Amino acid sequence: MNILILGSGAREHSIAWAVKQNPKCSRLLVAPGNAGIADIADISNINIENYHEVVKLATQEEIDFIIIGPEAPLAAGVSDELKNKGFLVFGPTKSAAQLEISKSFMKDICRAAGIPTAKHSTFDNHALAKKYVSEQGTPIVVKADGLAAGKGVTVAMDLATAYQALDDIFSTSNKNVDEKVVIEEFMEGEEASFFILCDGQKLLPMGTAQDHKRVGDGDTGPNTGGMGAYSPAPVLTKQIQETVIEEIVKPTLIEMERRGQPYQGVLYAGLMINNGQARLVEYNVRFGDPECQALMMRLGAQVLDLLIATSSGDLENAQINWANDHALCVVMASNGYPGKIEKGSIITGLQSLTSSSSQMCFHAGTKKEGENIVANSGRVLSLTTRCETLAEAHTLAYEMVKNIDWQDGFCRSDIGWRAL
Ligand code: AMP
Ligand code: GLY
Repeated sequence: MNILILGSGAREHSIAWAVKQNPKCSRLLVAPGNAGIADIADISNINIENYHEVVKLATQEEIDFIIIGPEAPLAAGVSDELKNKGFLVFGPTKSAAQLEISKSFMKDICRAAGIPTAKHSTFDNHALAKKYVSEQGTPIVVKADGLAAGKGVTVAMDLATAYQALDDIFSTSNKNVDEKVVIEEFMEGEEASFFILCDGQKLLPMGTAQDHKRVGDGDTGPNTGGMGAYSPAPVLTKQIQETVIEEIVKPTLIEMERRGQPYQGVLYAGLMINNGQARLVEYNVRFGDPECQALMMRLGAQVLDLLIATSSGDLENAQINWANDHALCVVMASNGYPGKIEKGSIITGLQSLTSSSSQMCFHAGTKKEGENIVANSGRVLSLTTRCETLAEAHTLAYEMVKNIDWQDGFCRSDIGWRAL
């Protein structure tokens, strides 16, 4: 098969790495990719949010299967357009992607299907939103309705912070975000991610992981896209997983189908676990980054078969072969992330790293400049390991970090701490 992956992060590098090991993959093309992906696949620098460009590339390159990594092309209807043109595609339609794109849509599904989630109200009026916040008190969570690249959520511990978040959302300068807010109850507990493949009819759980969203050690500082992850997440016990499937995932899929928006792709349920009970924080309609890197490390070549089965409505006949293993991913980011960063600093030591089924350095924001690899965005490298125990995976990942010489980068030193 000729396979095309859309995206340019470490998530897409790890998917490419897994897919490439499967003998069904004869040619691998990634758009737009990055410097690390260019070592294992052909890359094409198109705008992946423009479906005309994607359809043109897929047609020209005689692509048999397309895997969409990030949410932006899904929100732009790239999956719909490719499917309309007869391509086999991994990634939900734009209308099913509403589960992530619109917080109010997701909450409406929860209400209709009786899914446990935070109590909430939706407002398109600033004054009414402010009044509601003052009545509810803090802590409280303020969310912009649309896709906001991880910047749309404020967990406010005091009223001033909550009011500021409302001001930011309703200010006209913030044009990328819909002027609609979801205000919700603050949920206590431990967060974990659960990944479920859905083919429109059947579902297949694909593993659990825990992300580290805060920038600093001990879960301090501002939220980021994710500074590290590990899989499996012990907090998501087998019993909790079964309850989540029955009480959260299945009712969601049934409600989506009932509305004529059947869900096909990977459903990423962000969960809050408290006293053995799980509630839904959010849905994403793609793999998490960096959780994906840990999952891909554990699953390897079978990933391609699973994604094809999902996309062709054949999950009934699919199964996952699990090893008794643990994977862990440490993200290295540019100094200043998630705030302002400088691009262009040189990273050395990458050649000294071993690449194997137990250790991989996946690239995110890297670029080749002459002979050098330089940093080109906030999150830059994902050092990912797989071992029999989480402790071994942790040690090995930080040994990899020591080999990297990059003055302008940093990482957290405590990835995996909750489970360790
Ligand atoms: P979201 O984009 O909805 O996943 O929110 C981003 C992050 O904000 C989540 O991963 C949580 O850490 C936090 N968060 C969101 N909603 C809540 C909530 N209702 N209670 C507590 N924390 C939340
Ligand atoms: N790691 C969180 C996310 O991908 O949204």
